[in-house]
Amino acid sequence: MQTQNIPKVELHVHIEGTITPSLAKKLATRNGVKLDPSVLQYEDHYTFTDFLDFLNQYDMVADCIRTPQDYEDLVYDYLERCAAENVIYVEFFGSKDHGEACGISYPDMVAGMAKGIERAEADFGIICRCIMTCVRHYGHERALPAAQAMIDHPHPIVVGLGMAGDENAHHPKDFAAAFNLVHKAGYPTTAHAGEAAGPQSVKDCLKYLPIKRIGHGVRSIEDPALVKEIVQKGIALELCPGSNLSLGFYDQPEDHPILKLKEAGCRMSLNSDDPPYFMTTIGMEYENGMQLWGLTEDELRGITKMAIEDAFCDDETKAKLLAKLG
Ligand code: ADE
Ligand code: ZN
Repeated sequence: MQTQNIPKVELHVHIEGTITPSLAKKLATRNGVKLDPSVLQYEDHYTFTDFLDFLNQYDMVADCIRTPQDYEDLVYDYLERCAAENVIYVEFFGSKDHGEACGISYPDMVAGMAKGIERAEADFGIICRCIMTCVRHYGHERALPAAQAMIDHPHPIVVGLGMAGDENAHHPKDFAAAFNLVHKAGYPTTAHAGEAAGPQSVKDCLKYLPIKRIGHGVRSIEDPALVKEIVQKGIALELCPGSNLSLGFYDQPEDHPILKLKEAGCRMSLNSDDPPYFMTTIGMEYENGMQLWGLTEDELRGITKMAIEDAFCDDETKAKLLAKLG
């Protein structure tokens, strides 16, 4: 890979979505969980028919997680793979709802993740933090407890709140109470918008939620005034081009708006989203940036620098990461 030596930063990856089929099998066996055979057809990836089927498969695979040790193992497993691709920092989305669905309390889930993060930093030097994430299609009734858990059980690895799930379900204003609660406590926030839904979904998130970043946001390109607003407010787009192509939101690489968004002056990071689902990795996203969209090494290093600046970790950690970038 021509981009191997470029230090990389990932700000948008769902930790439950990093579980490889082999790890899913291992966790399912150790926990006595019977996974639906349809999710384990292939050695290295999963299949789905469309976005909603993807979300469904995702929940089915995540069912193999049952203990804090599982969280430790899957975080470590993912960070080991990232370190091999010269990733220096990962900010992953973790979901209280997925932990609870598997019978794990919020503090136990975070403690398991923290152990995986500490072990990976000790072994590979990679730094990692978690963004606690509510799931939009589960509704605001479950978002508020996720936000409250962050306040009631603060932990140094949890640095912000996010929202994943079906962008067409419910309305961002329904989640304002949860987002404002953590915002008032000093946590930055991000929300998925402008991928499965159009530019209005981005406008609604900007209007009703105190967000600093947008997960995807690619369909903002359909509204020039919105792109201007994003640039002017310095909102960062967490781009996941491989995910967008794999889910069929764009047919061809040349249809993807990454270059137009860059030319317009949008802040951005490059991310893998859910690697084994979209047959990608953070390393492949950087490599595709060069091979498919012609980004130069300097431009890719610039994207890493922007990602560090837009990360939700503290300034001391950012300074450490910037020093690694050189
Ligand atoms: N949950 C996990 N991965 C997701 C994605 N790519 N979009 C929305 N919700 C998700
Ligand atoms: Zn995502």
